Amino acid sequence: FPNTLVDRFQRRIDYLRLSVTDRCDFRCVYCMAEDMQFLPRREVLSLEELYEVARVFVKMGVGKIRLTGGEPLVRRGVLGLVQRLGALEGLRELALTTNGSQLDKLATPLREAGVNSVNISLDSLQPARFRQLTRSGDLAQVQRGIEAAVAAGFERIKLNAVILKGRNDDEVLALVRYARSLGIDIAFIEEMPLGHIVEHDRVLSLASSDELHAQIERAYPLTAQGEPDGNGGPARYFTMAGHPSRVGFISPHSNNFCHLCNRVRLTVSGRLLLCLGNEHSVDLREVLRRPDYCEQQLADTIVGAMAIKPERHHFGEQDAPDIVRFMNMTGG
Ligand code: GTP
Ligand code: 5AD
Ligand code: SF4
Repeated sequence: FPNTLVDRFQRRIDYLRLSVTDRCDFRCVYCMAEDMQFLPRREVLSLEELYEVARVFVKMGVGKIRLTGGEPLVRRGVLGLVQRLGALEGLRELALTTNGSQLDKLATPLREAGVNSVNISLDSLQPARFRQLTRSGDLAQVQRGIEAAVAAGFERIKLNAVILKGRNDDEVLALVRYARSLGIDIAFIEEMPLGHIVEHDRVLSLASSDELHAQIERAYPLTAQGEPDGNGGPARYFTMAGHPSRVGFISPHSNNFCHLCNRVRLTVSGRLLLCLGNEHSVDLREVLRRPDYCEQQLADTIVGAMAIKPERHHFGEQDAPDIVRFMNMTGG
């Protein structure tokens, strides 16, 4: 089978986001409904199945894998999976997106197992507000996790802050200062409308990246780093004079980067999602669980999926498809 994956729009797909669990110890207001139902065990891919998908993708030219969730570090046995992925020949970067709650104990083992970079969610530096936004998180615990990650020596650490109007948009500068104090990057994210969350009004909450950019610029002049991130990411990064920390903006509403998209996502139920903002997908679990399974079948299914990768998302547009899938199933 081919050792590169290319879609109909000539985009090369070399990045897999692998959701290893839909479960999480937090309940962030923009991510989950309060009474979230999680998948039953039989619908969840085993660690062996997750590894098999990753292995075949790497054979097909994928050089970067990001583990996501839910919260990836609450999956039992995840360190073993990380170790096996870290040893895959051809994998250039193994990354992780986490809420940080387990990092105080896991940062060093993850680094040793081969994780190159971590992204850690942090929406507030005020304990009470942090708890409100995550519905259960302990800020001090997460900050211990962030410090442990810094000490563990990852190649890159990035904080992710979803900024909601009237809730934490007054903390943008404080968050930048915190990232600077640790010498790590920070990205500000415009909320995306995934899943129906009745107790949370998304329309009221949108804070645009341009507003945040203007706010930061008054304290720290920002210099654009040129084209979006080299790895095809949706973030636009800026540097601050005389300082290693970068500030990024992930702006699905105000700035669309879909033409550079290089990624696909696997849900922990084995659904290969071709786009964050569309439901187009193929079922890899069915292939993995065939009695006569062989890697060629998986590879053929993946190649076939490239033909249905949508051109772009339509977040915020009038005719946007309604995405009922929640972020915790999607992995961001
Ligand atoms: P890299 O691209 O690997 O550097 O990381 P990232 O910043 O994209 O990943 P992370 O898991 O930290 O996610 C941060 C935010 O970016 C989350 O809100 C994701 O949903 C969002 N995101 C990631 N990929 C895409 C994408 O392809 N399109 C859009 N619109 N948002 C994305
Ligand atoms: N819109 C934008 N970002 C989101 N995240 C979770 N839900 C949403 C949403 N609805 C972010 C988390 C985490 C990353 C994986 O995605 O804060 O940093
Ligand atoms: Fe958990 Fe991340 Fe969703 Fe928050 S955003 S509930 S930490 S999966």
